[in-house]
Formats: sequence, structure tokens, C-alpha cells
Amino acid sequence: MSVTTSLTSGDVAGRSTRHRRPVATKALKRLWQTGFRQAGGRCYRPGGRVIREQEWTLFDGHATRSTLDSPGTHPVTFRSCNTTWKACTSTESVGVAMSRSGEKDTVWELKPHTAAKHQLLTGYLKAWFPILSRWNSRLVFIDGFAGPGIYKGDKPGSPVQALDVLLEHTHKDAMSSSEFIFMFNEAEKDRYDKLDTVVNEYIANHQPWPANIKVKTGCDSFEYVAEGILKHLEEQKKNLAPTFAFVDPFGVKGLSMDLLSRLLSFDRCELFVYFDFNTVNRFAAAGNIDDRLAELFGTDQFKRAADLTGSERKTFLHDLYQSQLMDACGFKYVKSFEMINETGHTGYFLFYGTRNFMGLKTMKEVMWNVDPGGGAVFSDILAGQDVLFDIKPDTLPLQEDLAQQFRGKRVSVETLEQYVVIETPYAAKHLKKATLKPMQERGIITSPNQKRKGTFPAKTLVQFA
Ligand SMILES: C[S@@+](CC[C@H](N)C(=O)[O-])C[C@H]1O[C@@H](n2cnc3c(N)ncnc32)[C@H](O)[C@@H]1O
Repeated sequence: MSVTTSLTSGDVAGRSTRHRRPVATKALKRLWQTGFRQAGGRCYRPGGRVIREQEWTLFDGHATRSTLDSPGTHPVTFRSCNTTWKACTSTESVGVAMSRSGEKDTVWELKPHTAAKHQLLTGYLKAWFPILSRWNSRLVFIDGFAGPGIYKGDKPGSPVQALDVLLEHTHKDAMSSSEFIFMFNEAEKDRYDKLDTVVNEYIANHQPWPANIKVKTGCDSFEYVAEGILKHLEEQKKNLAPTFAFVDPFGVKGLSMDLLSRLLSFDRCELFVYFDFNTVNRFAAAGNIDDRLAELFGTDQFKRAADLTGSERKTFLHDLYQSQLMDACGFKYVKSFEMINETGHTGYFLFYGTRNFMGLKTMKEVMWNVDPGGGAVFSDILAGQDVLFDIKPDTLPLQEDLAQQFRGKRVSVETLEQYVVIETPYAAKHLKKATLKPMQERGIITSPNQKRKGTFPAKTLVQFA
């Protein structure tokens, strides 16, 4: 993919699944304690295709303006990058331990955890597109490890799912004055060919295609694409337009902390990244892929895992990656979601990083929709089982925490919401009816300006005993 650009805490809550089990108070408390912290260039790529968009031809070696720059500030000129496009990378480059199924096939089965990952992605984009397009005339979605665009049985992959969110959005018309740029990159040639076909068919089936939606597919390594974007930005001294980067590889290769930090250093850039816990855990103390792990983490601190076992080791590796996303990438908030595989072990974590409170608030809502019992875990084992009862999170730990944190104080519901979203595993939606209402019934809080008991509209003040 030829690229150029002016685009721009994690918690581990209760081990419930989206289908069962309200979160257990003890487990939630433990996990609360352990896990929660808020904490290019302009190169022509033979494999890359411009789909329907004249502006994208700018990336194909002739043109001079980046579609990825923040518009409105400065038009952007590209210069050729000197690098020669290389052939699509081989399977070897994908990762060290092939811990995910399907890594050898062009198209593979959609596993329940992948469907859950897509739910998180689309649930978030559904909110991100309209919120950001209100203030920005250009938004960028980068799917750096896009896959073939489809799964066995014609189930849609992440590129199609992302497009669907926008094309089927109820507020699509209200977003028509913003430009949306979708960059789908896949390194393996056979998968890229499939992806390109899938995306072209998608566009053909959605005619007339909206003029404000640009789509580009490319066949290269994510590193190469990202370096190209950075080279261009550096040359032009431009900022990336608001960007949501979905970084979803197999294994641990190709997503160095250094690269992510440089690419996503711009204010409104966000990251949703796959962290291959299974591989990291297996190799952290083995010594044979230390260089690769050092790149992944951006530090060699992971070696300290050698002294740890079991859940302590898991928490350590999780927290190290999380704190690196915060410290090295500069994300103010990082929130993780755990995926349990068919054997009952942690396969991987998805980490979301943002500098924006609204982003964190939204992602937490989406995570709680996927895991109604705890907002933090999905398990392949229990996937597909019938929901036997309506899962309601246990808010007692939150009630206790608020009572302690705000003892004797008078604060607004807005302050409480900030606290809940940033400092606890809970989502904003748990605050009023599920937490403050019972606290008021128990006499722990009162309100001097409340119109109706048990309700907490904006600006309501809450007095803690
Ligand atoms: C987990 S799959 C992507 C799945 C896709 N995001 C989805 O949700 O439908 C990872 C993909 O990354 C590709 N890949 C591996 N190494 C890559 C690299 N360095 N750069 C870009 N893509 C790569 C693999 O060929 C594979 O298709």
C-alpha cells in the first residue's frame, strides 16, 4: 500500500462471559486491584489498488496531495520514497509461534472470539464515526493486518465490518460532509488478492458509492506502510488526521512499540491492538526471541517474567504491555479485553488506547455489551450457550468504593461519572440506576437539587454521608 498521511486502562474485571454469570464481587475486587489502570511515504505499491477514488490515485506515484492529512490546515505534497517495494512478506514473518488457527490458509473459520473482537470493533466505530465527524472533516480507519476480508462460509472480515458500520449507519447522512478514508493492508499475496476482490464486490454492491468514502487496499507489511506514513508526515511537518488504527496480526511480529508510538503520537489517534499473550507467555523466559519481544514491549523488562508463574506472571505481562502503551505511546487511557480459548486459557488480550475520555467511556460501554457480567472477558468455551437469565453486574463493590472515596463530600454526577469510567472497571451506564439509586435507598447519599428521588440527570449534586 502506498501510504501517506495526515491522519491523526486496561482492566481485567470478572471472569464472566457474555452469556453467563454475573461478575462475582470477590473476583471483581481482586481484578480491580490487580489489573485496572487508567491509567508511506509516498510509495507506489504494485499490489495496492485504488478503488473508485480519484483522490487515492494520489498515492499511486503521480499525485501530490495526501488524503490522510488533516484537511483545512495545509494541502500536502508528497515526495517519492526511495524504498523499493518488496514482495509480499512470507508466512515466516507473521509471528513466532503460530498461536492462532488459520494462519496458513487464505481463508479460515470464524471463531467465536473473533466474532467477539468484531463486536468490539464495530460497536466502537459505530460511536466513533459520528462523534469524531462532528468536529473533523477527515477521519481515517487503518486496518493494518486486514486479512482476506472474509471467513469461511462467507462471513465478513474486519474490513467489510468496518465499512458496514458507516454504510449502514442511521446517521450516515449527517456525516456526509466528512471524508472517511479506509486503508486495508494485508501482507500475504493470496489473502490480499481475496481482500481486494471482496472489497471491490462490496463497493459494486453498494452503488451509488458515497463520494465522501474512500477505500484503499494494499499488500505490504504493516511496518512498511506505517513507516511510509511517518516519512511523509515528517517531510511535510503535518499531523495525522484523527485515526483509528486496528492492529490485528498473528503472533508477535510486526507491531513494535516504537513504531506504534511514532505512528500514533498524534492527539486524536487511537489504537486497538492484539496482544498475543499466549506466545509472549511461552517465550518470555525462553531467551530465544528476546529481540522480538523487546521490540513488542519497547523494553526488556519482560524478562522479569522468568521469576514469576501462573496468574502473577500473567498480570505482570499484561500490566507491562499496558504501561508501555501509556508511557511509550502516550495514551492517557488504556483498557484491555481478555480472550479465553477453547482450552480455557488466555489466548490474547485486545488493548484499546486513547487520549480521550469520551473514547474510553464509549469503549467501556461496548466491552460491557460484549461481556455483560464484567466488561472484560470473552470465553470460547461458553460462547453460544443460551442466556439463562438477564445478567446484571454486581454494583456493590462500586457502591462501597464511591462511599469511601467521596465520604463527606458533595459532588456532581459528572464528577462521579469521570471517576467511574477512569478509575473503576465499571462503565458509565452502571452509575445511576444500578449504583446511586440503591445508595440513596440505603441512605448513603442524598441530593440537594434532585427533582425526583432515585433519578440523577445532568448537574445533579450528590451528597455523601
Ligand atoms: C488475524 S488476521 C487478520 C484478521 C482481520 N483483522 C479480521 O478481523 O478479519 C492477521 C492478518 O495479518 C496478515 N499479516 C501478517 N503479517 C503481516 C504484516 N507484517 N503486515 C501486514 N499484514 C500481515 C496475515 O496474513 C493475516 O491475514
